[in-house]
Amino acid sequence: MIEANYAGTMLAVQNLSKKFGKHMAVDRLNFSLHSGEVVGLLGPNGAGKSTLIKCIVGLLRPTNGEILINGHIRGSRAARQTSAYVPEIPQLYDMLTVWQHLQFITGAYEVKQWEEKAEELLKMFEIWDKKDEFTKALSKGMRQKLSLCCGVVSNAQMLFLDEPMVGLDPKAIKNLKNLIQELKDEGKTLFISTHLLDPIETVCNRVIVLKKGKIIAQGSLEDLRHQLGEENASLEEVFLEVTADD
Ligand SMILES: Nc1ncnc2c1ncn2[C@@H]1O[C@H](COP(=O)(O)OP(=O)(O)OP(=O)(O)O)[C@@H](O)[C@H]1O
Ligand SMILES: [Mg+2]
Repeated sequence: MIEANYAGTMLAVQNLSKKFGKHMAVDRLNFSLHSGEVVGLLGPNGAGKSTLIKCIVGLLRPTNGEILINGHIRGSRAARQTSAYVPEIPQLYDMLTVWQHLQFITGAYEVKQWEEKAEELLKMFEIWDKKDEFTKALSKGMRQKLSLCCGVVSNAQMLFLDEPMVGLDPKAIKNLKNLIQELKDEGKTLFISTHLLDPIETVCNRVIVLKKGKIIAQGSLEDLRHQLGEENASLEEVFLEVTADD
């Protein structure tokens, strides 16, 4: 078991592996996130990003390794209360309305006086007019927006966003980018898996690049540029360079 929480560490992952049959989807990962950090999780399709996040939030049982969220063991009630997860594919309840989803989440996270924030989020993502509709009537992008609203309204200290930009129109992507900056300013810790590099480039403190279940690069964009000797490279160029096949 890893050491109990030390000041400032929001997420500690030690020697984490996840195998599906013989396939090592996540391969002996070690890393941590400090409180208040925004970290991008990059990697090609199948790199293990979603598997890693699902292990951390308690949806998959790791084959090996230890995970602590703010000092709490993964999957424990305290860890769940500390973190919120926005999955790759929205998991909504067909028989609840948009507003009832937010009611349900804030109940589970014991958030008080959430209504104003919920209204602000629905208005920002332009689904306020859908608030009394059942979610089965929502479009793909609207489902993603509601899923994001649920994650944010939980007011959890740490947010795991698995490809949050997928399915969103350009305006919503811009709003999400501003929202991520706002959450960062509030001191929240964010771990964001994404293929869209542009929206996270300015807000991320660091990126972690996965390939075939292993961390192949990590650091600030400046660090990675420096490692490559390409001082003017964009995050996209850095990503393509580090993930290129040998
Ligand atoms: N439930 C499962 N059963 C078997 N193999 C799985 C399962 N889930 C994921 N995998 C495999 O684990 C590897 C990592 O998948 P994962 O979904 O974590 O990748 P990812 O980085 O999130 O990819 P993407 O960018 O496409 O979302 C892949 O080879 C995938 O086929
Ligand atoms: Mg994925």
